[in-house]
Amino acid sequence: MTTYRLAVIAGDGIGKEVIPIGLNVLRQAGRVTGRFEIATTDLPWSCEYYLAHGVMMPADGLAILAEHDAIYLGAVGFPDVPDHVSLHGLLLPIRRGFDQYVNLRPIRVLEGIASPLRHSDIDMLCVRENTEGEYVGIGGRFKRGTPDDTAVQTSVFTRRGIERVARYAFAQARRRKRRLASATKSNALQYSMVLWDEVIEGLRSEFSDVEVARYHVDALAARFITAPESLDVIVASNLFGDILTDLGGALQGSLGLAASGNINPERHFPSMFEPVHGSAPDIAGRGIANPLATVWAAALLLDHLKESEGAALIMRALEQVARSGPHTPDLGGKATTREVGEAIMSALGKVGEAARR
Ligand code: NAI
Ligand code: MG
Repeated sequence: MTTYRLAVIAGDGIGKEVIPIGLNVLRQAGRVTGRFEIATTDLPWSCEYYLAHGVMMPADGLAILAEHDAIYLGAVGFPDVPDHVSLHGLLLPIRRGFDQYVNLRPIRVLEGIASPLRHSDIDMLCVRENTEGEYVGIGGRFKRGTPDDTAVQTSVFTRRGIERVARYAFAQARRRKRRLASATKSNALQYSMVLWDEVIEGLRSEFSDVEVARYHVDALAARFITAPESLDVIVASNLFGDILTDLGGALQGSLGLAASGNINPERHFPSMFEPVHGSAPDIAGRGIANPLATVWAAALLLDHLKESEGAALIMRALEQVARSGPHTPDLGGKATTREVGEAIMSALGKVGEAARR
């Protein structure tokens, strides 16, 4: 029996309501498969922590996290703390410090959930570059406050950076339908996106069993709406991936369903798994937050730890609750966070038994 050490940052608002559900589910998956136990370190890092200590996490925060097999994060954000403080004080230092260069986002419409689209066969996996590209923060402002006020914001694309994220995407495509869509814009961005295309092209022979399609990102966004069933794995730069994954999240039917992983594939550092949504101050404290995104993130976490049986069982339990309820209000239901959590736990017990039979 393995014991996994999890660093748990529940954060603020509904983060603190959904993370306990996810931890219950992880522990149950360990029991049902008989394969692992979970040991947690609960870290109070959050906006509340910031208001008390003036920092989002202590100076040795990354060193503490580094002792763990994975990080499980709820959400951070508080009306009294500017969003750039919470982002730059916690999430970005973790993503960059731990070289989590893959942002993984499954985009799937579960049976029983209404998507704003008529298509029901939406099942994609977005692999977004998470450390370079358009979000490196290089540039400057000058002639500020004059009519000539000017800003320069530079993108940085490296062969190494593109190749490693593309390799991860190709490998994911191999586990699925062996189709990879690359988001480019090499018609307009004749340096960065031409390099992007060249690197993808250069990997084709190594992954000759994967079919590669190249789409300009605007056309790809349209394809998300008109022919989502034609898409399987998508690889995109930081900015393009940011936009496409929010579009994908909207197609899923609720923010309360979208999950993500920030992954360091080499496992030199722990990877971080989280629901995509924020702390939802508008519903925090009412016990009605949808825990399904956090549960889905738990499945991604187990998959990364190579506990594929546990991950698959969690997904089956999640699918069952999506199909038959109960549902929280964001999905049109009346159930509480706790009731949905209990339904997942009982579904997990049942699918676990069925799997053993
Ligand atoms: P949000 O995702 O917290 O909420 C947007 C809307 O979706 C709200 O109406 C909320 O009630 C609803 N919602 C979100 N998650 C839900 C769930 N699980 N169940 C039911 N309804 C749900 O985004 P918002 O309001 O823009 O940001 C609130 C705070 O969260 C801000 O401080 C923001 O910076 C932070 N934030 C943090 C993130 C993170 O920790 N990774 C990501 C996004 C926002
Ligand atoms: Mg976004």
